[in-house]
Amino acid sequence: NSVLVHSPATLSNLGCGFDVFGLALTAPYDTIRLTRSTEPGVRIRHLDHHNLPTEPTRNVAGVALLELMKEVPEVIGFDVEITKGIKPGSGVGSSAASAVGAVVAANALLGNRFTKLQLVEFAMAGEVVASGARHADNIAPAIFGGFTVVRAVEPALDIIALPAPPLWVAVVHPQIEVKTSDSRKVLPATVPLGLAVRQWANVAGLVAGFMTADYDLIGRSLDDYIVEPARLPLIPGLAEARKRALAAGAIGGGISGSGPSIFMLNRTEETARAVGAVLGSVFAELGIEFNVYVGPV
Ligand code: HSE
Repeated sequence: NSVLVHSPATLSNLGCGFDVFGLALTAPYDTIRLTRSTEPGVRIRHLDHHNLPTEPTRNVAGVALLELMKEVPEVIGFDVEITKGIKPGSGVGSSAASAVGAVVAANALLGNRFTKLQLVEFAMAGEVVASGARHADNIAPAIFGGFTVVRAVEPALDIIALPAPPLWVAVVHPQIEVKTSDSRKVLPATVPLGLAVRQWANVAGLVAGFMTADYDLIGRSLDDYIVEPARLPLIPGLAEARKRALAAGAIGGGISGSGPSIFMLNRTEETARAVGAVLGSVFAELGIEFNVYVGPV
């Protein structure tokens, strides 16, 4: 009556697909151990040093589990142990990973009675606590794997899961705080039609690029004309990081989720490692501490 789940980091938005696109990474990941208990309710323990809240109603994994338990007729309880392998606030789906790990583990303990789509619904309740917004673009890839398109959240969830071609990701996480709620406040309320046209042309190009493993098309289509320009002032070094990454051979990239991390997609491990190094060099020169992660999708 105990299950251990590794729940991966994810890239959301992926350039032009704000709140829509997501890509699952293989690492880093959160580790969630869930034990079924006859004592009703949810009890959370963190086995790391991040000091996240443990009250179930304030913890993303707790909120997601409470949402799932509303659909379970029998009286159950869960003891949860969370080890964060993904730094909270880094912009690679840290909150989504914990929420997803908890509901996937609960589903396994309950005989897999829920569909993946239902698990996305439960985990999304955690995102509301973390960011104030019901967005599934980190949740969906963590549950389905690969490249995901959240085609709709309302009135019903509609998720398209597509395979991703072989890719290596380089991510730099500068140690600056960018809260998702703050980085959503800077976004424009309306978008000029001309920009919208360029954006949805890229969205179409990126989906086609992923489906045909056309790396050049992926590179041409990543750019985000709407959200990234508004968030640029929150992320020092972004323009320089992109310039150096492209020169080092990256396909393209941008802000990871709502930041502050920056991701770059690459064809090979060798290029990804070189790109990771130049991404780090930008923040070293700015005197900002950083971590670099390089891994396959
Ligand atoms: N799509 C969300 C945003 C992701 O960019 O605000 C937040 O992690």
